Amino acid sequence: MNKWDDYYIRTKDNDPNYILHLALSKVNLKTGHAIDLGCGNGADTALLIERGWTVTSIDFQEKALKNTYERILPENRYNLTLIKKKFEDVELPKADLVIANDSLSFCTPKQFPTLWNKIRDAINSEGRFAGNFFSKRNGLVSNQHSFFESDEIKEMFKGFKTEMFFEKYEEGPTSSGELWNIFYVVAKK
Ligand SMILES: C[S@@+](CC[C@H](N)C(=O)[O-])C[C@H]1O[C@@H](n2cnc3c(N)ncnc32)[C@H](O)[C@@H]1O
Repeated sequence: MNKWDDYYIRTKDNDPNYILHLALSKVNLKTGHAIDLGCGNGADTALLIERGWTVTSIDFQEKALKNTYERILPENRYNLTLIKKKFEDVELPKADLVIANDSLSFCTPKQFPTLWNKIRDAINSEGRFAGNFFSKRNGLVSNQHSFFESDEIKEMFKGFKTEMFFEKYEEGPTSSGELWNIFYVVAKK
């Protein structure tokens, strides 16, 4: 059992991420094609498909893709494309919405700039990004993964219109026993 298998068990029936609800409700998105980077158990993918989107869900863990597939009603699965790869290694299709929750920070700092350029390029004009980035004060901080200051995130979204940007700090230990400090962004290209 790898570290993600335990995560999938703990979060099997988790709700879609708050930032996705915010993006869908506050900024009046029409439907289209979305990419879910690091889809995990597929809660966000499932919400988007329920709302009429087609979704490409990417995760490098077999279990994540299996759980995502099972979460989608059989009659709606034609709207789902699953890709089992590291998102760093995928040629991203064009998308009206890219979501990435608790996932992009697991990219190495060396690979992150290329990944980020690829994500920016994949978003259609008027399309959106909705997701989060771990702060340098996050309890998981290490030099293996990518952590950010708010200024760095603002720089990454140059050329986008930022519709929401907020920082969350949770004092209590989370299910992984760490403190969380995370930046959330919804931005329009
Ligand atoms: C903490 S989970 C979040 C899952 C989901 N986005 C959510 O919010 O519930 C992170 C997911 O990202 C995936 N992941 C981490 N690094 C990845 C990479 N380099 N490429 C693809 N998936 C990755 C993991 O396998 C895991 O399923």
